[in-house]
Amino acid sequence: MGLKADSIVIRGGKPLMGRVDVRGAKNLATKAMVAALLGKTPSILQDVPQISEISIVTKMLEAYGVAVTSPEDGVLVLDPKNVERAHFAQIDALAGSSRIPILFCGPLLHALGEALIPDLGGCRIGDRPIDFHLNALRAFGAVVDKSYEGIRITAPNGLTGANIELPYPSVGATEQVLLAAVRAKGVTELKNAAIEPEIMDLIAILQKMGAIISIEPNRTIFIEGVETLSGYSHRAIFDRNEAASWASAALATGGDIFVGGAKQQEMMTFLNIFRKVGGAFDVREDGIRFWHPGGPLKPVQVETDVHPGFMTDWQQPLIVALTQAEGVSVVHETVYENRLGFTEALVEMGADIVVHSDGLESVTRRVPRRKLEQAAVVTGPTKLHAADVRVPDLRGGFSYLIAALAAEGTSTVSNLGLISRGYEHFVDKLTALGADFDLI
Ligand code: EPU
Repeated sequence: MGLKADSIVIRGGKPLMGRVDVRGAKNLATKAMVAALLGKTPSILQDVPQISEISIVTKMLEAYGVAVTSPEDGVLVLDPKNVERAHFAQIDALAGSSRIPILFCGPLLHALGEALIPDLGGCRIGDRPIDFHLNALRAFGAVVDKSYEGIRITAPNGLTGANIELPYPSVGATEQVLLAAVRAKGVTELKNAAIEPEIMDLIAILQKMGAIISIEPNRTIFIEGVETLSGYSHRAIFDRNEAASWASAALATGGDIFVGGAKQQEMMTFLNIFRKVGGAFDVREDGIRFWHPGGPLKPVQVETDVHPGFMTDWQQPLIVALTQAEGVSVVHETVYENRLGFTEALVEMGADIVVHSDGLESVTRRVPRRKLEQAAVVTGPTKLHAADVRVPDLRGGFSYLIAALAAEGTSTVSNLGLISRGYEHFVDKLTALGADFDLI
């Protein structure tokens, strides 16, 4: 947002010290904006970060006739009273860099009886299919037609509550079901749902709007459809991915960062690993302080998983810190099939990381392996040296910033636009933390 530069030249080797604040989570705020489409009256969302993903969703909502205004920094007012069909080309042009359009289906089917969805973008961290989404929509009675330009979904008889069991607790597919079921006729039972804190926050928003949603044990969610929903007023849950990224930056650079707005509950799994690696943290009323207490860091075994497991988004920044641990760490990535590719650049910078693309057998595994698993074996400590690297995806990109900040010498990180998708004011935050850099 507002970032003109494509590249940053970082003179590394200095600890990051100071305070940064995180606001609402990208992965809640964008969905909350889509939920506003379901209301009869305007919604108010607070703590909205200034990131480009929010601008993209704003433009999409505007293309559908939603009036989006920002009376003050961090606040969005979303008025859906003039919702209308958008021109496909308009949405297609915007969607290139976002996964959010698929979540418009339920609300658009309720409002207009039709949704046109382009091919989806998002980070190139794996195949990212949408089969769970489309099968769920079909279960509600929607008809899905695929064409060369995208997908046309209609609901000639409206949407009716359904029994749905997800093959995997997908975050997006769970949100899809919630956004479609709240106004469907009858009751929906969703089994094997994702229960990430951002999903709980979306459920809280939908309840404020008038929805009836109960969460049963064993990842089952019941949604009783209602006729109408009204707008909501809600403060978005904090961005735990951003908080974990700054925490990893503190550890990797031997620094000390207070992350204002970070909360313990949603980060417990991260905090356990952070402590095992040898990082120190102090949970306070208004945030969490993360620092490197001195002495050697320790290697860990980590396996990414759905909540309450260790988030896939956390492993990329953590791996940079693990290059400084004494011994062999293993990071199993079980959620996406291409989320360890970013390590190639770290190897170029001197890290000893070997990626096993078919995973590793190990007795210490917490969950059964998925077919898409890979494992990164990180042997440290290795001195990182400067390099010129290009941001491959959002979290991988932030990891490159951390690596460049930790490395001796002058590195250039290009393609910064991708980082602006999900990290608010990261350049100003780097300045606040004493980083030595220039934008070019
Ligand atoms: N999957 C399918 N079919 C589907 C949907 C998902 O096979 O129809 C697979 C995916 O390919 C993946 C796995 O299921 O292997 C998990 O995907 P999920 O649907 O849970 O992820 P998502 O909703 O696409 C969100 C976040 C990601 C975050 C994941 C996991 C948003 C916009 N994105 O993705 O965030 O990594 O959940 O927590 O909320 C990021 O912020 O950088 C990011 C990538």
